Amino acid sequence: MSYSPVPPSLCQSLPSNTASTQVLDFLNQRRSTPLALLTEPGPQRDELSMILQLASRVPDHRRVVPWRFVVFLGAAKQQAAKLIGQRFLELNPKSGKSKAGLESHKFSNAPVVIALISSPDEKHKTPVWEQNLTVGAVGQNLLLASNAAGFAGVWLTCWYAFDQDIRQHFGVQAFEKIAGFFHLGTASENPVERPRPDMDRIVSHWKPTSP
Ligand SMILES: Cc1cc2nc3c(=O)[nH]c(=O)nc-3n(C[C@H](O)[C@H](O)[C@H](O)COP(=O)(O)O)c2cc1C
Repeated sequence: MSYSPVPPSLCQSLPSNTASTQVLDFLNQRRSTPLALLTEPGPQRDELSMILQLASRVPDHRRVVPWRFVVFLGAAKQQAAKLIGQRFLELNPKSGKSKAGLESHKFSNAPVVIALISSPDEKHKTPVWEQNLTVGAVGQNLLLASNAAGFAGVWLTCWYAFDQDIRQHFGVQAFEKIAGFFHLGTASENPVERPRPDMDRIVSHWKPTSP
């Protein structure tokens, strides 16, 4: 898709009430696509920049920008996948090469993989908890922007997001966390719906307690 969002200029007035049943339908049908169903094509470089730019338009208290992206493409993605396979074998020496190969394949299966790194400023006035929430918003925006650009995707952590050795290979600092890997591509078949939360169970209306 060819779309180059022009960032609004500073102090430009922006529409705050944009009714759109198209967008509501889009949200109503939002769905992750299982990794095994993600095939070529994935976003090209210009589409990827657009997706990351739009993903970064999030609520961010005091503009800390507590996140960064690491993109895995082509031969570098294959190399990263190999490291994951090797590390899996190191941690599970009895599992065999085919299981390690599967772990490696799972990482490299989708055309594009993006690591979202939570990179908080621990000394900032904005609590780290709020900064973490901002990173979560980036993740959801990334999925939504990818879908709107015509791509399917899924947000996964897997064991290696928490593995010291892999974190080091991927350049993650001690104070940082991998919020997830975003696997993007085209769905070979449409995923089916899964149960959604019972809204009656999670929504309540606060009432003042009587004195
Ligand atoms: C931070 C985070 C990490 C996740 N990690 C995994 C994972 O490692 N494996 C997995 O199967 N699903 C994981 N998920 C869930 C999927 O992204 C996805 O939400 C799930 O498959 C349901 O699909 P849906 O998004 O259409 O509801 C994770 C979700 C989040 C928010």
